[in-house]
Amino acid sequence: MAVPFFDLTRQYAALEDDIRPAIDQVLRSQQCIGGPVVAELEEQLARYVGVRHAVGVSSGTDALLLSLMALNLKPGDEVVTSPFTFFAPIGSVMRLGATPVFVDIEPDGFNLDPTRLTEAIGPRTRALLPIHLFGQCAQMDQVMAAAYSPTGEALPVIEDLAQALGAQFEGRQAGSFGAAGCVSFFPTKNLGAAGDGGMVFTDDDALHERLRLLARHGARPKYHHIEVGGNFRLDAIQAAILSVKLRHLEAFCERRRAHAAYYDEALAGLEGLTLPSPGPGHQPVHNQYVVRVADRARLVAHLQQRGVGSAVYYPEALHTQPALKALGYQRGDFPRAEKACEEVLALPIFPELRVEEREQVARAVREGLQPGAPAT
Ligand SMILES: Cc1ncc(COP(=O)(O)O)c(C=O)c1O
Repeated sequence: MAVPFFDLTRQYAALEDDIRPAIDQVLRSQQCIGGPVVAELEEQLARYVGVRHAVGVSSGTDALLLSLMALNLKPGDEVVTSPFTFFAPIGSVMRLGATPVFVDIEPDGFNLDPTRLTEAIGPRTRALLPIHLFGQCAQMDQVMAAAYSPTGEALPVIEDLAQALGAQFEGRQAGSFGAAGCVSFFPTKNLGAAGDGGMVFTDDDALHERLRLLARHGARPKYHHIEVGGNFRLDAIQAAILSVKLRHLEAFCERRRAHAAYYDEALAGLEGLTLPSPGPGHQPVHNQYVVRVADRARLVAHLQQRGVGSAVYYPEALHTQPALKALGYQRGDFPRAEKACEEVLALPIFPELRVEEREQVARAVREGLQPGAPAT
């Protein structure tokens, strides 16, 4: 039996009877841009996250770009963030001509090390951008406590919760800590659309107004442009699909947690393997279940041979990527992030993963780590 790394068809098959009529309703109404379906999803998700406002947007990347635009980020401005993540948050900072300033990740986790923030914050710092990687919140108490300029002014925090909708830290939802929280509805995310989509969460009335203005080409009223914005809209068809899935979000999150708890137990104590270890106060929703493996290539080969999917997030840290060369970082600047790139391996986890499949994953991992196990 092969175990897929991810299988989206199962969720669709389970919800098809609800999703198809929801799409048809939008098509019949022909209110495909904006309208009540988008507004209702925004309202429901704002309530879920625990903030007053949510703005549906075209992708997680655009959620980040729009939020940074709303902060008036300009060339020369700096944003402190992590070098161990997907490219989107860093690319968004750079598209505005601003400069990402990296701090290394925690010694025993994958999120930015909050104890490094103060030394990275300087007179040009305009925002902090923590990423809740793999579905676990960054250490938000310490991030928020560090979010001050050298002269003591509060710095806005933009949370990237692309992978972490539903995750909590100290009883608060990811996306509710900072000035803005940016989520992705990429199909494999905790709440996935049938295409691209995203949302920005905020509790700040003024920021909310700016987000809406900039998401509509800076027009107020229509065709009178007071700023340069863009088209960052969420399609109504995607919103209809997401609304159906939202009814099941907590169940999806619970199933991800149950799979993670199973792996935690079934893979505990194996030599050469380090399991994710969320600290006190964290309640992750594992969008990925990422282990560290001393001899990754050998384990990957074994899993392949057993038909078990796996993936590497991320094979290369951002500070050594060609697109960031001009920033002048060198290999060796962020040793923890670089080491993570050599060791990380994501195992299959998605709500519809079957019990017998996760058992097979655990069996294959155990076998693959045994000394003398054949690599292929
Ligand atoms: C951490 C992180 N940030 C941002 C994004 C961007 O989201 P999208 O693909 O919806 O643009 C992703 C998507 O994979 C992500 O993993």
